Amino acid sequence: MAENSHEKTLAALGVTQPEQVASLFAQLQTRATADLQAAHSADTFEEFRVNWLGRKSGVLTLIGDNWLKLATPELKRAVGQELNKFKSQLEAQMEARRAAIESGAEETASAKDRVDLSLPGVARPIGSRHLIRQVFQEIEDIFVSIGFSVVEGPEIETPYYNFEALNIPEFHPVRDDMDTFYVEAATESGAETAPGALLLRTHTSPVQIRTMEKQKPPVRVIVPGKVYRRDNPDATHSFMFHQIEGLAVDADITFCDFTGTIEYFVKQYFGPSVKTRFRPSYFPFTEPSVEFDVSCIFCGGSGSGANGITCGKCKGSQWIELFGAGMVDPAVYGFVNYDAKKLSGFAFGMGMDRLAMLKYGIDDIQVFFQNDVRFLRQFP
Ligand code: FA5
Repeated sequence: MAENSHEKTLAALGVTQPEQVASLFAQLQTRATADLQAAHSADTFEEFRVNWLGRKSGVLTLIGDNWLKLATPELKRAVGQELNKFKSQLEAQMEARRAAIESGAEETASAKDRVDLSLPGVARPIGSRHLIRQVFQEIEDIFVSIGFSVVEGPEIETPYYNFEALNIPEFHPVRDDMDTFYVEAATESGAETAPGALLLRTHTSPVQIRTMEKQKPPVRVIVPGKVYRRDNPDATHSFMFHQIEGLAVDADITFCDFTGTIEYFVKQYFGPSVKTRFRPSYFPFTEPSVEFDVSCIFCGGSGSGANGITCGKCKGSQWIELFGAGMVDPAVYGFVNYDAKKLSGFAFGMGMDRLAMLKYGIDDIQVFFQNDVRFLRQFP
């Protein structure tokens, strides 16, 4: 019912039959009850009284004038009866309200709703950065301190960047180790991409290509990020994990610069007493390629624990495999229009999760992804 129905005649409100009168008053009653409930103090109660019972233009006076006096003979009786009923109900309600306000109960009720700014706030638990994030930061800081900058690349890649431009042509056997999750995505025009046209990157190496395409040498970058492989989960494998790629290309970068940089990083990260070694390896985009190892950080490189028992971490070998790396294969420069005769450089790709596990003595890679706060709280 409109707020101002009492200002209109019954005819204007469309009330022509006595049966309609009761519902008209029921709506009026609802309005009055709501208004009265909003009165919590002597002042607001008085305002209510004037609005509803004011002699000149109170709602009840206007109902008498507009509804009762102007009612047709058929309606007059029903309106008179309902008006009397409404008046006595309203008086009773007002009496109860006045008593509540005078006894102070209403003041207390409204005070309850007020916000007490002097109360102490609700302490919300503050989270901390995930251990993987912390290790990313640690490693970034080490490389930034020796002149590398941090760049990022897309997690959804094309086979060109993930494989071909890294000298891994279609049907090259190395793809078998890394074959991955292909995705179908809608292009900007809304059309689906062709099957096999996009994939979740299997390593951060495609960002080597993207960086060299955009930037002229010298290049010194590291690339932190998530990568994906169709590997079955176990204590050291996850289908989603983290890598940090490194790339340095310039006119006169030698193998010594390469091993010196890696050794500097390893000592900064694990501590000065750790030794490094490298073994020949193979990656299609580096030549020569190597695998870097560190002396076992659990047994100090002795191969056995204090009790003489064979170290369970390095299995007595004294070394722990760290990551793959090498001098950039000249074939790669051909994909980015770099002059392979004038330039040389090195690249590496570290498994972040395994680096974090080694440093913090974590046995199972899966704990990184389970989000158990009992684990997370150990690394505030
Ligand atoms: C690569 O991914 C190369 N792109 C690295 C590289 C870059 C070599 C630049 C040369 C130059 P690889 O497949 O070995 O290499 O993976 C690198 C590291 O990722 C591994 O040493 C390991 O620490 C980690 N890794 C590989 N697979 C998994 C997995 N399923 N779960 C967790 N970590 C993994």
